[in-house]
Amino acid sequence: MSISENVRKRMVDGSWIRRMFEEGAILKKKHGEHNVFDLSLGNPVIEPPAEFKHALRKLSENPMAGMHRYMENAGYEETRIAVAKQVTIENSLEVSARDIIMTVGAAGAINVILKTVLNPGDEVIVFAPYFMEYDNYIDNHGGKTRVIPTDDNFLPDLGILKKAISKKTRAVIINSPNNPTGVVYHEDFVKQLGGILEAQEKKLNIKIYLISDEAYSSLIYDGLKYVPILQMYHRSLIATSHSKDLALPGERIGYIAVHPSIESKDDLVSGLIFCNRILGFVNAPALMQNIVRHLQHVTVSIPEYQEKRDFLYNNLCGMGYQLVRPQGAFYMFPKAPAENDVEFVHELQKFNVLTVPGRGFGYPGYFRISYCVNHKTLEGALFGFKKAAGQFIRS
Ligand SMILES: Cc1ncc(COP(=O)(O)O)c(C=O)c1O
Repeated sequence: MSISENVRKRMVDGSWIRRMFEEGAILKKKHGEHNVFDLSLGNPVIEPPAEFKHALRKLSENPMAGMHRYMENAGYEETRIAVAKQVTIENSLEVSARDIIMTVGAAGAINVILKTVLNPGDEVIVFAPYFMEYDNYIDNHGGKTRVIPTDDNFLPDLGILKKAISKKTRAVIINSPNNPTGVVYHEDFVKQLGGILEAQEKKLNIKIYLISDEAYSSLIYDGLKYVPILQMYHRSLIATSHSKDLALPGERIGYIAVHPSIESKDDLVSGLIFCNRILGFVNAPALMQNIVRHLQHVTVSIPEYQEKRDFLYNNLCGMGYQLVRPQGAFYMFPKAPAENDVEFVHELQKFNVLTVPGRGFGYPGYFRISYCVNHKTLEGALFGFKKAAGQFIRS
């Protein structure tokens, strides 16, 4: 056998986005790229902000000696100082460069954290629907995924969470703004969640890490504010990146921010830095570290995304789709009007509209739309949404 049974099984089970990508590629070949409306991927078409291009040009015209060499595994100190400054502002809590580890995207950050804290068989709690790569990341490091449901508004069910925490629980992953629902958790809610974790830690005499996946934390609409996660729970870690806020997913640049007064901080931070090294990342890309340290306050245009959200949400509601109004990220997660989410996604494909079935996020019966595309693509997709709705939605 050329590959392990576990890898083979995971490749088959967890590849809905890839499967849609491949089916989409066939459709594009057949009908031409411009006649297919691809809303399946979270790969922003928005270009990085002008400030990014300016910083890149400046660096290439004034290269620094040694800028392509190995560095400390945590990343350049100047970059960690700049990131710490921004995290301090956002969380109203003094965070220092020692609390920051530069990583290969948010995916790298989550893997480094899990590698550092999990013992074999430890459980990591996630809330469905969820970004299913978590399953693979948890398995990578010998953990077990424990899936907990959300309510009608896609908020984690805290009653069930409380009961589900056991001696085996080692970490909880939250993701707000959320992929795939676009839902943003409010401060009171996160405070309650933190309270439950703290109470259960004491009751069971365990340590539970709260991993806050903040890949979309800058993409928040309707005047909502970022919830300062480090204020909400004492054993919290932020895992994030500039893949979405600066539209740089291919550049693989992100970071971990550790709660500044987390217990056994020196041990934990040393472990994280070690794991960044031994997972083979060694350090986050040097060039990008030298760029993003000048861009900590910069983002792509948030109003542009909010306009796309409004356009699509209003149109879909008008057609009779049922969906929770997303307030962040660039996804929405309507109920599939057909019995079966895969059947409905295939119905949309007949009109050259590509989406992903909810089961790709551990939540059958729904489907995910990614609207980080240009307006023409959104407009073009409306015909297919209307036609498909016509087949299944009775007014
Ligand atoms: C919820 C979530 N977390 C993490 C990631 C990985 O982000 P990165 O490209 O920064 O590794 C993604 C990517 O789409 C995501 O949607």
